[in-house]
Amino acid sequence: MEDTNHIIINYYDEIAESYDISRFDNTYGQYVDYQERRVLDNLNISPENSLDLPCGTGRFLNYADYGCDASKNMVKIAASHWNGKNLTCADARNLPYEDSSFDTVITMHLLMHLDDETIGQIMKEVHRVLRSGGRWIVDLLSDKRRKWTNTKHSWHCHKSMSIAGFNHFVGDYFQMNSVSGIMLFPVHRIPSALRMPLRRIDYRLAQTSLLKEYSSYLIYELCKR
Ligand SMILES: C[S@@+](CC[C@H](N)C(=O)[O-])C[C@H]1O[C@@H](n2cnc3c(N)ncnc32)[C@H](O)[C@@H]1O
Repeated sequence: MEDTNHIIINYYDEIAESYDISRFDNTYGQYVDYQERRVLDNLNISPENSLDLPCGTGRFLNYADYGCDASKNMVKIAASHWNGKNLTCADARNLPYEDSSFDTVITMHLLMHLDDETIGQIMKEVHRVLRSGGRWIVDLLSDKRRKWTNTKHSWHCHKSMSIAGFNHFVGDYFQMNSVSGIMLFPVHRIPSALRMPLRRIDYRLAQTSLLKEYSSYLIYELCKR
């Protein structure tokens, strides 16, 4: 199969300078960031032996002392935001870490860009660098939401799975401990002034078992088998 991942890495390399402002300096980005942090805060991640993969510009490096990203420009920006973190530019399919190096690997906003083969390669690398019983905290677009809203596909939002489908995909390597929903409301349709008050209600509803899978995406807490 043709390797399209380098197109994605080049894209982020080119937009690295404007990434933080374009994605998070607005009410949409802040809405998303708020909900993701509530989930991550609940997962009690201790930064010492944790890897943020891909770390991008370092948005989640408060949860991890190690960061890795295939875009050198994204890593450069992460390094300008954080002192004393161990940051590396490398491909998630071929990580420069010893076996069993980490207690936790956090993978946010990556799998949605990729095909099954690449996701499988990354899953095996994450499994290798995690210690026994370590956790992979990873997000993926929800298949049910996509079918419900009939969202169009591009490389940016390429991959979605159901909870059952993802459980099956990772099942030989990981056990699913918990699943959290992110963004049940169609935030782009909510007026800017209402977004901040509504993000809390959205977060609560997105955690209910009936509605969870209709969230835009899901954060999975997986445990290494
Ligand atoms: C949408 S950003 C997410 C960054 C960060 N996790 C966040 O949530 O802000 C996706 C990142 O994945 C990186 N990336 C894409 N393919 C990769 C690969 N094979 N290995 C490592 N990083 C990769 C890109 O360079 C980019 O920084």
